[in-house]
Amino acid sequence: MTSSAARLVVLVSGSGSNLQALLDATADPAYGAEVVAVGADRDGIAGLERAVAAGVPTFVTRVGDHPTRADWDAALTAQVAAYRPDLVVSAGFLKLVGARFLDAFGDRYVNTHNSLLPAFPGMNGPRDALAYGVKLAGATLFFVDAGVDTGPIVAQVAVPVEPDDDEASLTERIKQAERAQLVEYVGRLVRHGWSISHRKVTIG
Ligand code: GRF
Repeated sequence: MTSSAARLVVLVSGSGSNLQALLDATADPAYGAEVVAVGADRDGIAGLERAVAAGVPTFVTRVGDHPTRADWDAALTAQVAAYRPDLVVSAGFLKLVGARFLDAFGDRYVNTHNSLLPAFPGMNGPRDALAYGVKLAGATLFFVDAGVDTGPIVAQVAVPVEPDDDEASLTERIKQAERAQLVEYVGRLVRHGWSISHRKVTIG
C-alpha cells in the first residue's frame, strides 16, 4: 500500500461480507484506502477469519471482560486509536459505542444498516420491513451519532421487496446492494474528504 492510502479500521460481529468487500476493493491502490485493523466484540466469527486470511491485524474487545460498559468503550476507543484510523467502519458491528468512542471518532465513524433509515432502525431491519409490507427496502450508510441508527446519512440504496420474499431472501438482496454502496462511498469519502453540516453530508 502507498503511504497516502487512508487508514481504515473495520469493526465486525459476524460473517464479515461487508468487510470482505472492503478488503477486496483495497487491493487496488487506486481505491485510496487500506484496512489497517479489524476489531470485534466477540471471538470465533468469520469476520475475524477473513481479516487473518488477508493478513490484517485483529483485536477483540469483549464487553464482558470489562467492569462497566464505559470501561469497555474506553478500551475499544484505545484499541481503535492505536491504529490511527482516518475512518472507522462499523460493518455488522452489533454494539452501540459510547461517549468516549464518539468523542474520538464521532465525525469519522460510519455504519452500514440494512434498511432505508429512518425506517426500521435496530437489529431486524429486513424483518421489520417485511412485516410492515413496504415495497422498497434497502440500505443506509451513515455517520454514527449517539442515537440508534440516527446519524447523518452518507448514502442510501433501494431494492425491491418481491412478493415471495422471506426474511432470508430480502436480507440477501439488501446485502448485495449494501456491499456495493459501502465500497463506493467509503472510497469516495477517503479520496475526496467530507463535511457534515446540519445533518447534510457533503463529499468533496
Ligand atoms: C449487514 O447487512 C448490516 O447492515 C447488518 O448486519 C449485516 C452484516 O453483514 N447490521 P456482514 O457481517 O458484513 O456479512
